[in-house]
Amino acid sequence: MKFLVLNGPNLNLLGVREPGVYGSQTYEDLLAFLMNSAKNLSVDVECRQTNHEGVLVDWIQEARQSYDGIIINPAAYTHTSIAILDALLAVKLPAVEVHLSDTQKREAFRKQSYAGLACQKTFQGFGFEGYRLAMEWLKHHLEQKNQTGNAIEIRPYKDTDWEHLQRIHDAARQQELARCGYLEGYTNLLATFEEENLFEGQVAVLLLHEVPRGFVAFTNHEITWFYVEPGYQRRGFGKKLLYYTLQHTKRPLSVWVLHGNLPAISFYESMGFAFMEEKKGPLHRSQSQPIYAIGLRYGLMG
Ligand code: DQA
Repeated sequence: MKFLVLNGPNLNLLGVREPGVYGSQTYEDLLAFLMNSAKNLSVDVECRQTNHEGVLVDWIQEARQSYDGIIINPAAYTHTSIAILDALLAVKLPAVEVHLSDTQKREAFRKQSYAGLACQKTFQGFGFEGYRLAMEWLKHHLEQKNQTGNAIEIRPYKDTDWEHLQRIHDAARQQELARCGYLEGYTNLLATFEEENLFEGQVAVLLLHEVPRGFVAFTNHEITWFYVEPGYQRRGFGKKLLYYTLQHTKRPLSVWVLHGNLPAISFYESMGFAFMEEKKGPLHRSQSQPIYAIGLRYGLMG
């Protein structure tokens, strides 16, 4: 694993420069600290410093070919440089922002970090230690990503998946209904699926390390069920299931979501679905009377 550590303007003057804020150790001390930390973590690093914004942009661009991640302290350019932000967004390497001082506790003009918008993580206010934490975080992040990447499988439903689907459905449906204020309408999977005929079309299951963590049911033109288990959301599993679905369905493809389910709505919108219609209808009944909810239909055209 190889990281590029970039330091921006005036960091070459560490030790001389405002020691009350940045400490008395020099840039050479920082380099020694970085090399030692990298050795302890068994990663390779290359460290560079420049006072020029464009040079930072060039180095970020070049990193694409030869590094697994970037650790960057853009110094004063943090608060001004959209070019550095854009370069980080362009190369799509995981990046961590580091500041020796805590910029949030200093002047108001240091509060905005443009580069930070493209970084997965920020360590600030820890002095040199922030760089070590950044390396450790990046290493861990990349290891996890590799493991997860290799451990995901999406395949058609098998009978042995049933109890997993039940678990995923019950937890995710409860979460969804609570989010929308309809918890009372919750019924368990079996009752719901009997009513709704889950297997009218195809069912695909996403497995992580061979355990189902999400599933989607769809017919040619409609997604009828789509759930990722709570605790496994926000890892891109939904996107993977949706890509699978798109390969097995036709356009227009539509899906109903509850009007209060904002994460689902922004997910479908980010994947190109657009609002089509709104309907009020009964939600799956709990023992007594039906609960009426507003459903929104989103569709993907062409
Ligand atoms: C800095 C914080 C910046 O606001 C400042 O302009 C720097 C150094 C830090 O490491 O604390 O030059 O990035």
